Amino acid sequence: MKVITMNTAAEIGAAAGSMFVQTVQNKENAVLGLATGATPLPTYDYMAQACARGEVSFKKVSTFNLDEYCDLPQSHKNSYFTFMSENLFSRIDVDMQNVHFLNGNAPDAEAESRRYAAEIEAAGGIDIQFLGIGRNGHIAFNEPSDKFTNDAFKVHLTESTIEANSIYFDDVPMPHYAMTMGIGSIMRAKKIVLVATGKSKAEAVRAMICGDIDPHCPASILKAHPDCTIFLDEDAASLL
Ligand code: PGA
Repeated sequence: MKVITMNTAAEIGAAAGSMFVQTVQNKENAVLGLATGATPLPTYDYMAQACARGEVSFKKVSTFNLDEYCDLPQSHKNSYFTFMSENLFSRIDVDMQNVHFLNGNAPDAEAESRRYAAEIEAAGGIDIQFLGIGRNGHIAFNEPSDKFTNDAFKVHLTESTIEANSIYFDDVPMPHYAMTMGIGSIMRAKKIVLVATGKSKAEAVRAMICGDIDPHCPASILKAHPDCTIFLDEDAASLL
């Protein structure tokens, strides 16, 4: 993995965003793996601004998001679908027919996992995947565990994740379950870009980069990926 430390989240957003823009400039029907949370926002700002400047068109791209809450309507203000619509899709010229999400309310999680894997494969596989990292080392909602996962599955979120994300919920309690892409689905992406900013990520970043590959730090698997770039700010890099 290539580790790059930069001064500000905005600089990182421009660097990570330009990797996505270049991917689409080189392949107009590129397949983008996208993430939610605070971390990708500067990257999405850069992509939206590049599109507004006419430097790139996302008309032919397909997108696949990493995860979605269970037991929450897709139209709810806290769904990841709403997050993506507000922070990226409404700001670029993507065709919403090509936007793919796991259905957190699917009655059969295993069938839903098979559907998502088949759609990713039919699109030609993910060309570039954005990742954040949880304070506990999770990627997507792959929480620390005794083994690495493969395709998408329904996960019971850990206390650490519920504590980190419940600040966004005011009208309903935060769901305790989500559908998430598995580690195998993430590792099959041709290129991976992980961004970590802030002190709260420093310990997870240290375990990911300096520790062994271990499912108790799910992000550590990225050491085995042939094309993975990690962008850190000074705070996230402070324990390296
Ligand atoms: P954050 O979440 O970007 O909101 O910090 C990252 C994650 O939990 O993967």
